[in-house]
Amino acid sequence: MKRRNFIQHLCPALTVAQLALLSSCQEEAETVVPATSEDEKEFKRVSALFNDEGFLIEGKSVFVNLAHKNFSKLADISGFSNVLEAGILLIKTDNTTIKAFDNCCPHQGARASWVVVNGRFKCENHGNSYNTSEVNLVTCSSNSISGGLVRFPVTLYKTYLKVLKS
Ligand code: FES
Repeated sequence: MKRRNFIQHLCPALTVAQLALLSSCQEEAETVVPATSEDEKEFKRVSALFNDEGFLIEGKSVFVNLAHKNFSKLADISGFSNVLEAGILLIKTDNTTIKAFDNCCPHQGARASWVVVNGRFKCENHGNSYNTSEVNLVTCSSNSISGGLVRFPVTLYKTYLKVLKS
């Protein structure tokens, strides 16, 4: 049973607005993971291992030191950073949320030509733009000229961010 149907079945008195809010909170919970005590230990371990560029790649995990000058743009809403070597795009969407996406363009795979226009990532290689709301997801080099970029879950601890690439 789909989540929305389950919620409607369980709580018929919920209003449409409440359902929308609940659903959006649940969707956010799937991709913004709160730091556990194990995460805190891991962040403390890697804090001494960041490279000069302010990040660390360990397998499918990318750790980012948000206090590093290379990530200063993420202090502002709509500020973004393309961590080319790590294959991730980071964008600050509100005061408490930084989202991470695959930086491989769904059109022909360019990784270095991103700008943000009206809350969407635009690849300047051929001018196609992609949403950050996970609507109609399109994958790397799938020849797609629209749709949503693939998002990765993030964990935030103090000024450290962990991105788990799929
Ligand atoms: S490779 Fe990005 S728009 Fe063509």
